[in-house]
Amino acid sequence: MIGERTMARAGDMLPGVVSMQAARERSLVGLSGASVERIRRLLTRACELRPAAMGEAEPMTILRGRTVATLFFESSTRTRTSFAIAAQRMGASVVDLSSGASSLSKGESMRDTARNIEAMGVHAIVTRAPQAGAAELIHDAVACSVINAGDGRHEHPTQGLLDMATLAEAFGRDREFDFRGLRVAIVGDVVSSRVARSAVAGLTKLGARVTLVGPPHLASKGLACLVEPSAGKPSLLSVEHDIDTVLPEMDAVMMLRIQFERHDGPGLGSAPSNEVKKAGPIASVRAYREHCGLTVERAKLMKPGAVVMHPGPINRGVEMDGPVADGLAGPRSLVLRQVSWGVAVRAAVLAECMGA
Ligand code: CP
Repeated sequence: MIGERTMARAGDMLPGVVSMQAARERSLVGLSGASVERIRRLLTRACELRPAAMGEAEPMTILRGRTVATLFFESSTRTRTSFAIAAQRMGASVVDLSSGASSLSKGESMRDTARNIEAMGVHAIVTRAPQAGAAELIHDAVACSVINAGDGRHEHPTQGLLDMATLAEAFGRDREFDFRGLRVAIVGDVVSSRVARSAVAGLTKLGARVTLVGPPHLASKGLACLVEPSAGKPSLLSVEHDIDTVLPEMDAVMMLRIQFERHDGPGLGSAPSNEVKKAGPIASVRAYREHCGLTVERAKLMKPGAVVMHPGPINRGVEMDGPVADGLAGPRSLVLRQVSWGVAVRAAVLAECMGA
C-alpha cells in the first residue's frame, strides 16, 4: 500500500501501478471532489450490501483480514457506531480510538497519531476532527485508506451519501440515482454545516435542486457559490431566508442543528449571567424557532408526499418539533431511515476504499 501511494504520487500512471485517481478513490475525503460515477457506484453498492450491513442477512466476509481504526477527535453517536457495525458485518476488525484515550492529550500531533496507527497494519482510518482539512492532512500523511467522518465545517461525505440513499429510496430513484426534478431544502445553521456542504455537492451532482434556508448570518447569499453553474443553465443551488415561502415547493426538507460549538458565545442551556458575553448564533431559542424552526404548524405548509430529514443529533423544540421529527405530525419523517442507511453506505465506502 505504501509503495502504491508513493509511486502514484510520484509518477502519474506507471505500468502495473494504480493511477492518482485510483489512489484517491481508496479514500473518501469529500463529495465535492467525487465524480458522479463514484457517487452512483457507492449508492448502488450500499443497496447491494444493505441486507448484510443491517443484520437482515448473514454477515459477509468481503473485508476479512482487514482492520479499520476509528480515530475520532470529536464526539459522535451515529457515525462512529455505524462505521463499526458496518465494518464488523463485512468481516473486518475494528479498533476504536477517541481523542481522550489517545496520546493527542499528551501533545502528539494528529499526523503522528495517524502514522503510528497505520504502522500497526491498519488498512483504513475513519477520522473525525473539529478542524476543517483534518481528513486531508491525515490522507496526505499515510498510505492506507482514509475516510472523512466529518472535519470541522468542511465535509461529512458519508452523511451526504446516506442522505442521498434515503431520498432515492423514498422517491423511487434507487436504480438510476437520477435526482432531476427533486427539490430539497436544507434549513438552519448552514454556514457551520459540513453535512450541508456534502449534501449540496452530492445532491446537485445527481441533478436535484437545493435551496439553503436560514437567517442571513446562518445562510448567507454567498453560499450559493458552493455550486458552479454550468454554462447556459440556471444554478441548481439557491439561498433564501423565508422558510414559509420555500416549504410548499419542496419534496424534502432537511433540518440542521445550530452548531453552538462552532460559534462564539453561549450555547443552549447556558446559565444566565451578569458577565458581558460574546453574542451567540441566535438571540433566543424562541425567536429562532419562530423564524425558521420546523414546528408542527409550519410542517402543514409542506406539500403532500414531502418528507422531513435531519442528520442528528436533534435539538427538539429548537430547529424541529418532536412530533415532526417522529413523523407524528404532518409529513413523513425519514430521520431513523437515514440512520439505517448510514450502516449500508458505510459498508459500501469501506468496501470500495479497501478494494473489496
Ligand atoms: N449525523 C452525525 O454525524 O451524527 P453523529 O455526530 O452522532 O455522528
